[in-house]
Amino acid sequence: MKLITESEIERGLIDKAKRVLPGGTFGNFPSDVVIREGRGGRVWDESGREYVDFLLGSGPMLVGHAHPEVTAAVQERIARGTTFFANNRWGIELAEAIVEAVPCAEQVRFVSTGSEADLYAMRAARAFRKHDKILKFEGGYHGMSDYSLMSLAPKRPGNFPQPIPDSAGIPRSVREEVLVAPFNDIEAAAAMVREHQDELAGVIVEPFQRIIPPMPGFLEGLRRITTEHGIPLIFDEVVTGFRLAYGGAQEYYGVVPDLCTLGKVIGGGFPLAAIAGRAAIMAHFDRDRAGDDGFLMQVGTLSGNPVAAAAGLATLEILRRPGAYDRLFATGRELMGSLAGQLKRNGLTAQVTGEPPLFDVVFTSDPVRDYRGALRGDGEMLRRFNALLRERGVLKGESKYYVSLAHTPEDIRHTCEAWASALEALATA
Ligand SMILES: Cc1ncc(COP(=O)(O)O)c(C=O)c1O
Repeated sequence: MKLITESEIERGLIDKAKRVLPGGTFGNFPSDVVIREGRGGRVWDESGREYVDFLLGSGPMLVGHAHPEVTAAVQERIARGTTFFANNRWGIELAEAIVEAVPCAEQVRFVSTGSEADLYAMRAARAFRKHDKILKFEGGYHGMSDYSLMSLAPKRPGNFPQPIPDSAGIPRSVREEVLVAPFNDIEAAAAMVREHQDELAGVIVEPFQRIIPPMPGFLEGLRRITTEHGIPLIFDEVVTGFRLAYGGAQEYYGVVPDLCTLGKVIGGGFPLAAIAGRAAIMAHFDRDRAGDDGFLMQVGTLSGNPVAAAAGLATLEILRRPGAYDRLFATGRELMGSLAGQLKRNGLTAQVTGEPPLFDVVFTSDPVRDYRGALRGDGEMLRRFNALLRERGVLKGESKYYVSLAHTPEDIRHTCEAWASALEALATA
């Protein structure tokens, strides 16, 4: 396989980034690649190197980069003004599409990022329950707010339910307001809910945590125990929304929460996210219905932005077409099967875990059911594998392959060849 090298232009940009950006990055991805453009399931860097793209902008580009219909919708919209603050037709229609698609969604409030959506969903639960504590799961990602950055990625396991802050700068007092449970352990979560029922505002969970599917009965158990105690259950569907199914993880796994958060796909590659859920809880966003004491303050300059909403609407229209999810899942299944087969043939101890639209390998002998199971994986091996793949024209995030509707049989073939070559290099290194 031909290995490709960096150009002067890309090197210059990388050096400039190191001067003007902390860590030389936007905070998201290593500084040693600068992407110039994307089309379908591929991207090109500033050196002209072509990659099959499984990073997909960290997930939004489910229908592929620069999809002609999304691009046309955006171009038409953009020529008539890009933001108004006031209501606009595209945002209203996108909210309607979400209400029609997502089982828990009776009403929708738009924000600009998934982080914000999670922050306000938790605030809505607190406003509704008039309590402060939030229960989350170890390893669960809910954006960057003070509440969310608790036991997302602890280096060493803590003692449940005590949270471990993931970032400097988080007020110590927030630790008192978050309880942490192990994912996929319904007995532990149910016991915490029972013990803290009089203080709990809500339970927030990624129904499919990072790349770990829920075990049978886990989400159902969460639904049962939260319903029993009248505690709002929040599904963070920023990743899974419109990806695992048109109605998201709640349709795919058949468990309906009280609130959910959406992002990534619904903005079609633009900054747009949402909180959606039962009207009784969403009422807190409406001063007329909630009254002064129950009113949840939430305003955002770009909320419901018409360009982002037009991109989202065009994306959802493509996803509604017959066979779209069958194709997405077929591509993902083929990739997962090939990766698992190749790892086995190479004698590597590894698990391919996830669902067809989103998966990765964890280099461990045990099935991965929770954060601690994922942590037992050989992270250094994964980093080397990812780096070898990058040299072979496959771009992915640290621990995720995002599959796109735009990935072609040729993209799959290229990826399988890159896996074969990278695994050979990994075995002989
Ligand atoms: C499950 C989940 N929730 C929330 C977020 C935060 O979304 P954003 O990056 O748009 O703030 C992410 C981002 O990857 C996510 O994966």
